[in-house]
Amino acid sequence: MAFDPGEWARAHPQSSLRLRAPLAPLTTMGVGGPARILAEAGNEEDLRELLALSQTQKWPLFPLGGGSNVVFGDQGFPGLVVRLGAGFAKMTVTGSTLLAGAATLTSSALKLAQSQGLSGLEPLVGLPGSLGGAVSHNAGGRLGDIGQVVNRLRIMLLDGTIRDIPKADLRFAYRKAQLSLEPGVILAVELTLRPESKEIIEARLAESRALRANQPGGRSAGCVFKNPLQPPNLSEADPTWGLRAGELVSAGRLIDLCGLRGRRLGGAQISPQHANFIVNQGGARATEVLALLDEAQRAVRRRFGLELEPEIARPAVPGGGDD
Ligand code: EPU
Repeated sequence: MAFDPGEWARAHPQSSLRLRAPLAPLTTMGVGGPARILAEAGNEEDLRELLALSQTQKWPLFPLGGGSNVVFGDQGFPGLVVRLGAGFAKMTVTGSTLLAGAATLTSSALKLAQSQGLSGLEPLVGLPGSLGGAVSHNAGGRLGDIGQVVNRLRIMLLDGTIRDIPKADLRFAYRKAQLSLEPGVILAVELTLRPESKEIIEARLAESRALRANQPGGRSAGCVFKNPLQPPNLSEADPTWGLRAGELVSAGRLIDLCGLRGRRLGGAQISPQHANFIVNQGGARATEVLALLDEAQRAVRRRFGLELEPEIARPAVPGGGDD
């Protein structure tokens, strides 16, 4: 049966649905074309119906959080992009447990935790985006990541079933999470934090902010690549670089050593401040951003024999995806 968007919207007043809706404003990078269908689910029942529609209409599905780690192609997304509305952004604190809807901003959760004297989210200070997004790729920094404090997740599977997944069944690795064997949408996140003095929390926040002081402001999708692990023979290859075998090496440093810091293509630029960021200097196209990404990847492969793995999701690129 043909799908009637107007009818769907009238029947679901707490949600919204638009055809050919621009995605660029919903991402921090600010590039990319429209979604064939963009929906914001206001409640669990409407989300269940949207997931069912994506199955029956055979629309590819992309759950979008705060859009801070994603670059849509200029062609946009040929299916259903689903966001969670304000009903999924509620938080409660009980003892040292913070329970939050997946659409909660990471910054709001951090602020609430800090006000309650609860520590654990400081490594995420300064990160834009939602808790659901942060969990899906285990966001963090040198001081730790969100996976370390996740105690339970609530996920809606594509068939509408809701699953509570305890910590023991979650696998977090460096900027990577295996949350469920079946795909779904994260609904809520339960965090177990630690009571801590305000001074210690403040000091951790300051330390975490200082580690990000060399990162650019403006429009970007955060770090483009994960830091690669150095093969054992690399440090011998050229000890003057001071790279140590068996350690993660800064992807930004490697791209910089290839001479690409500040390289510009149209409106996109490898940040002059930190080479693992691509910034939209105004009017960038996704093709320009992705061409710079490819160029950096090729240069590092050629010079160091290391394969940089993108950290950002590229939903409309064949082979790309939300990792
Ligand atoms: N460096 C350069 N040139 C550059 C960038 C960095 O020479 O263009 C040098 C720095 O001077 C420093 C070294 O490389 O000596 C390491 O750089 P930095 O301290 O910036 O750390 P990083 O490894 O590049 C990591 C995380 C960041 C996180 C920071 C701070 C990854 C891919 N990067 O950056 O995470 O914010 O530490 O905690 O894990 C992210 O995951 O999105 C992200 C940005």
